[in-house]
Amino acid sequence: MLKLGIIGTGWISAQFVDAAHQTNRYAVTAIYSRHQETAADFAQQIKTSAALYTDLDDFFAADFDVVYIASPNSFHAQQAVMALAAGKSAIVEKPLVTHPQQLDALRDALADHPDLFLFEAARHLYEDNFAVIDNFVHQHPISGATLSYKKYSSKFDAYIDGKNPNVFSAKFAGGALMDLGVYLVYAAVKWFGMPDIATYRAHLLDSGVDGDGVMQLQYPQFAVNLITGKTSNSYLASEIYTDKDTLVFDPVGDLKSVTLVSGDAEQNLSRPVLPNPMVAEAEAFGQAIENHDRDFFTKQFALAQQVHTVMGTLRQSAGIIFAGDPE
Ligand SMILES: NC(=O)c1ccc[n+]([C@@H]2O[C@H](COP(=O)([O-])OP(=O)(O)OC[C@H]3O[C@@H](n4cnc5c(N)ncnc54)[C@H](OP(=O)(O)O)[C@@H]3O)[C@@H](O)[C@H]2O)c1
Repeated sequence: MLKLGIIGTGWISAQFVDAAHQTNRYAVTAIYSRHQETAADFAQQIKTSAALYTDLDDFFAADFDVVYIASPNSFHAQQAVMALAAGKSAIVEKPLVTHPQQLDALRDALADHPDLFLFEAARHLYEDNFAVIDNFVHQHPISGATLSYKKYSSKFDAYIDGKNPNVFSAKFAGGALMDLGVYLVYAAVKWFGMPDIATYRAHLLDSGVDGDGVMQLQYPQFAVNLITGKTSNSYLASEIYTDKDTLVFDPVGDLKSVTLVSGDAEQNLSRPVLPNPMVAEAEAFGQAIENHDRDFFTKQFALAQQVHTVMGTLRQSAGIIFAGDPE
């Protein structure tokens, strides 16, 4: 059983803990919050008697093996480095980094602790329907794709009211690309590889982050268009083109149905979806850590580095600047 520490007391942490418990591989033993009362409320919510911390150094000195980090984006990389330095493995919410240069510190920390694991919680990567598409792509000649993931954010009303929620703040590295676009970039890089050219035309909000936009990834033989946003809802299907056939599926972060359309014929390739979409990743990470599966880690970390290299190019092309960016 892995002892699990938690940073971040929002709904996503509760959902991850539920997923972790479903795998029977983890037990929560430590919780960090900026406020004792919030930590206590969270502990009550997830029904644990874990130790509570309001000091990050004390938290990282506590008794646990792996930390789940679901703080605002701008804290992810530095908290992951702290975790590794403290001898803990880390499961970090997406985006693992907000600037590709932050990967250097993570690589250094991992080199100093070659027995530890670092995973980015890109949950869709571990879902069965993602694997269905992955298998399809690697067995068919591809002539292009359009992938979408665009949802009206529950925090956008607060943004309009001038409350400056973290997810729309340049200080906390928010915006559509970092929040939802990263799912699309993960899918594109996993399915099609590294693009030759990556561009992002984004509509920037007054806060400096992107509200929505369209990315294009160019490959030698085809182009992939990625549509993202947090200021409106899109019901566009995602599509991958192969000869005269088209694979049609849901927004990439919410993959429930996958259909192969060949003229008038339709073949349903969908696999059942788990009620908690974080169970598959919790299982994959827990299994890898418990079994010391370095090959799995190496593969996933290589992919994360590719994804965040592309993310950096896209961000630069859209002119999105965060408070903590390197000079
Ligand atoms: N995988 C998914 O499906 C999914 C879904 C949603 C979110 N996420 C990811 O999860 C992460 C957290 O998202 P969220 O919406 O929960 O973010 P959030 O509400 O902005 O912050 C998360 C937690 O960080 C702490 N926090 C808030 N503001 C802070 C500040 N100014 N300084 C330091 N700590 C602060 C809070 O915990 P305390 O008050 O206890 O300190 C809060 O519960 C993000 O990186 C997001 O991308 C993933």
